[in-house]
Amino acid sequence: MDESLISAGWDRMVQRLEKTNKCTQCGRTTWSTQEMCRDCQEAARRGREAARLDHQWAKGPIPGAPPLFESAYADHETILSWIEQKRQTLLVITGATGTGKTWQAWGVVRALRAVPVLALKSSRMSFLTREELAAVEAARVVILDDLGARSSAAAMATALEVVDARLEAGLVTVVTSNATLGEIAAAEPRLASRLASGCIVRLKCPDRRLPQRGS
Ligand SMILES: Nc1ncnc2c1ncn2[C@@H]1O[C@H](COP(=O)(O)OP(=O)(O)OP(=O)(O)O)[C@@H](O)[C@H]1O
Ligand SMILES: [Mg+2]
Ligand SMILES: [Zn+2]
Repeated sequence: MDESLISAGWDRMVQRLEKTNKCTQCGRTTWSTQEMCRDCQEAARRGREAARLDHQWAKGPIPGAPPLFESAYADHETILSWIEQKRQTLLVITGATGTGKTWQAWGVVRALRAVPVLALKSSRMSFLTREELAAVEAARVVILDDLGARSSAAAMATALEVVDARLEAGLVTVVTSNATLGEIAAAEPRLASRLASGCIVRLKCPDRRLPQRGS
């Protein structure tokens, strides 16, 4: 074999060894041709991904929300402190129509970064499909939207079942209602009793759907 070929190969290996440098992040010796070692590159990549997710949850559309509520955020003071304190798993938002109950409920989903989330309208609460029942158990947050004093007995019974199961499991449930607790109690006392154990917020602003009067 040609000796000059062997010596050229040897020289290249020596050159590569001499190129060994220190990671600019952790200072460990690295064989990488990059400035950072593999571990530090991976940590940096995870950091960028976490920052992207943070930004997405803070500013992006809420995953799973209907278009009307995908940009919702919670700004009601009591709701914000309920989110912060994490003492109760049940939040009950009452108030007249258009006061922003459903908006605040989706805002809770954003604040808690809740995936998966399930929103059940009272009209769909009268019966649950097997898939929905499974989803009720799996969801990090369930919104029971529009529970009314005039909801059907079947809807009330489902709401009771869902609230009860999720209270027991320590899972977050947000209930919105036009009715007062007293009105709900008249229809389903056991449901009202459980709702009363949660954080109750009454929204009082004017109907947001009506055109605003000039100020
Ligand atoms: N803080 C807010 N900022 C901007 N838009 C809002 C806010 N709150 C509510 N809205 C908008 O106002 C409208 C009414 O709000 P929302 O549907 O949450 O009211 P609601 O109390 O749930 O009414 P209903 O009892 O009829 O269901 C919606 O179109 C919603 O997008
Ligand atoms: Mg609503
Ligand atoms: Zn490193």
